[in-house]
Amino acid sequence: MAIEIVPITPGFGAEIGDVDLSRPLAGEDLAAIEEAFWTYAVLVFPEQKLTGDQHLAFAANFGPHETTIQVYRPGKDKDLRLRKEFADVSNLDPEGQIWGRDSRTRMFQMANRIWHTDSSFKRVPALASLLYARSIPPIGGHTEFADERAAYDALPEETKARLEGLVAEHCIVHSRMRLGFTAFTEEERAGMPPVPQLLVRTLPQSGRKTLYLASHAGRILGMPKAEGRALIDQLMAHATQRQFVYTHRWRPHDLVMWDDRCTMHRGTDFDDLRWPRDMQRATVSDVANSCEQEGVQAALA
Ligand code: OGA
Ligand code: MN
Repeated sequence: MAIEIVPITPGFGAEIGDVDLSRPLAGEDLAAIEEAFWTYAVLVFPEQKLTGDQHLAFAANFGPHETTIQVYRPGKDKDLRLRKEFADVSNLDPEGQIWGRDSRTRMFQMANRIWHTDSSFKRVPALASLLYARSIPPIGGHTEFADERAAYDALPEETKARLEGLVAEHCIVHSRMRLGFTAFTEEERAGMPPVPQLLVRTLPQSGRKTLYLASHAGRILGMPKAEGRALIDQLMAHATQRQFVYTHRWRPHDLVMWDDRCTMHRGTDFDDLRWPRDMQRATVSDVANSCEQEGVQAALA
């Protein structure tokens, strides 16, 4: 039976049914999923029963796995709850207990609550993220997604012209600093230097233009720092207006996949000191840095 695709809105978000992601996919089903992904940017696959291997195998259809940065945990930094190919997006410590109020991991992961796209702070950023819900809290803990293609389309023509070719500097230190987290070790800082990314990208598969924004973006090259930051903040406020946003309310065993090149996302509040929320994310790397993909030279001063 062919897979079923049910759009959530006409151009953003779709639910995919009649597919079992635990098994290798037929060529035409994978092609249909890819096409839906380039069209809708966020795909929801309900009722998937996936082992870690199966989750990773489905992700591998879209490109190479990205290994995520590990948050240094004083005293127990070597123990990971999940295998290292996954980003652990839960509120659990390596022993499976709910994290402490003041734990470093909790402070670090708070940045998932502000609008971002995954890994734009890496020279080669993420193409796609695939987040799987192993268990969810009874209330709260949703994930919101903003369509930056639609947000770009809605800009005035003179703004579009002004943004053409601009390059932003992205750094993970920046998104953490927004929340007052500055306790990076020297090693962490050295391992995550700022990288250039285009502010407006063109998606090769659809030809659509999109904003490429994130909490990781700190300044715009060639612009006074304050002016660049003000522009980034203004564009983020524009791109996250309700008409561009889909809120995903999780069910256990949902797999949600999003295009990191043209969406932002954030987690919503929940009582994270009371309810376990066990989520694991596989991340697929893009083919190259966004500037390199479009032949834009960008040297960080
Ligand atoms: C992520 C993320 C938000 C959430 O997995 O990259 O930002 O709601 N998640 O868990
Ligand atoms: Mn994220």
